Amino acid sequence: MALACCFFTCAEAARAFFVFGDSLVDNGNNNYLATTARADSPPYGIDYPTRRPTGRFSNGLNIPDFISRAIGSESTLPYLSPELNGENLLVGANFASAGIGILNDTGIQFVNIIRIFRQLEYFQEYQQRVAALIGEEQAQSLVNGALVLITLGGNDFVNNYYLVPFSARSRQFNLPDYVKYLISEYKKILRKLYDLGARRVLVTGTGPLGCVPAELAQRSRNGECSAELQRAASLFNPQLVQIIRQLNSEIGSDVFIGANTQQMSNNFISNPQAFGFVTSKVACCGQGPYNGLGLCTVASNLCPNRDEYAFWDPFHPSERANSIITRQILSGTTEYMYPMNLSTILAMDSKN
Ligand SMILES: *[C@@H]1O[C@H](CO)[C@@H](O)[C@H](O)[C@H]1NC(C)=O
Ligand SMILES: *[C@@H]1O[C@H](CO)[C@@H](O)[C@H](O)[C@H]1NC(C)=O
Repeated sequence: MALACCFFTCAEAARAFFVFGDSLVDNGNNNYLATTARADSPPYGIDYPTRRPTGRFSNGLNIPDFISRAIGSESTLPYLSPELNGENLLVGANFASAGIGILNDTGIQFVNIIRIFRQLEYFQEYQQRVAALIGEEQAQSLVNGALVLITLGGNDFVNNYYLVPFSARSRQFNLPDYVKYLISEYKKILRKLYDLGARRVLVTGTGPLGCVPAELAQRSRNGECSAELQRAASLFNPQLVQIIRQLNSEIGSDVFIGANTQQMSNNFISNPQAFGFVTSKVACCGQGPYNGLGLCTVASNLCPNRDEYAFWDPFHPSERANSIITRQILSGTTEYMYPMNLSTILAMDSKN
């Protein structure tokens, strides 16, 4: 009885949080997998509270961590973590896996990663485990009342269409048709998330794909962003907002909320000094031009002050850039958040 009571109050304390997607939001699932897409060795995590690598692709916290803080929760555990059991399940779970995309053939070079369909299967399995703990009805209301974050799409360009010249997908589709295909597959995934009980889902767009240090190193002569990858992001993101609008109107409720992370990032990429960064072109950790080549390892160049860099490694924002993005998710105007920002949603949902 005392136990049931504790579970009840814990579930009441903060809403659960579920995370799906790729390395931008992975809290460490890939640590448990045989894959090269991993962030479990130094200097990853150098600014994390424990100063140790966790599997997050950041020097410290990532966007899901900042969202957890905003809703008054501890960070979600990776679904594959052995610590994710008992009461910890009620906090939510992070199903994300670095390297994955919308398509099953994205990131195949990373071999053993949790593709999005598998993440959704794990979500079902999670719900069964929670139901066994607190009962079917309570589990259902925990899931319906939860906040969900999904971040997909970047790898479908970087680790698929543009991975090698004349990739299979680029021979199959021109860019606009590829984006249409991605978007139609993404719509099915979002619909499935709704069918599995998700009722508040933050959907981020892709970041500024052409401006990351890795692309500057490979495709840029003078430090300008890669026009081709920027074009991909600019085609993808507005169409993502369109399917969000369609889905919400089909469902008859604002279940899906779009976050324009491309625009959020463009602000500090085009004017880094205004945000207290010394550069938005050079990664803090890496090697070669812009520190944009290869992996971030103990052998890499490492900047002394991570807060001064917009990019931590060749592909991923620094902790401070993540906090700036999350601030916009929380309180940005409709230019950034469609149809409304997270603060508005939290305020609305707390009245129900
Ligand atoms: C991806 O794989 C899953 C099964 O793992 C399948 O249900 C789905 O249709 C596949 N998606 C595409 C676009 O082929
Ligand atoms: C977003 O959130 C803030 C509260 O943090 C609110 O004042 C503001 O009006 C919101 N903006 C929009 C456009 O909804």
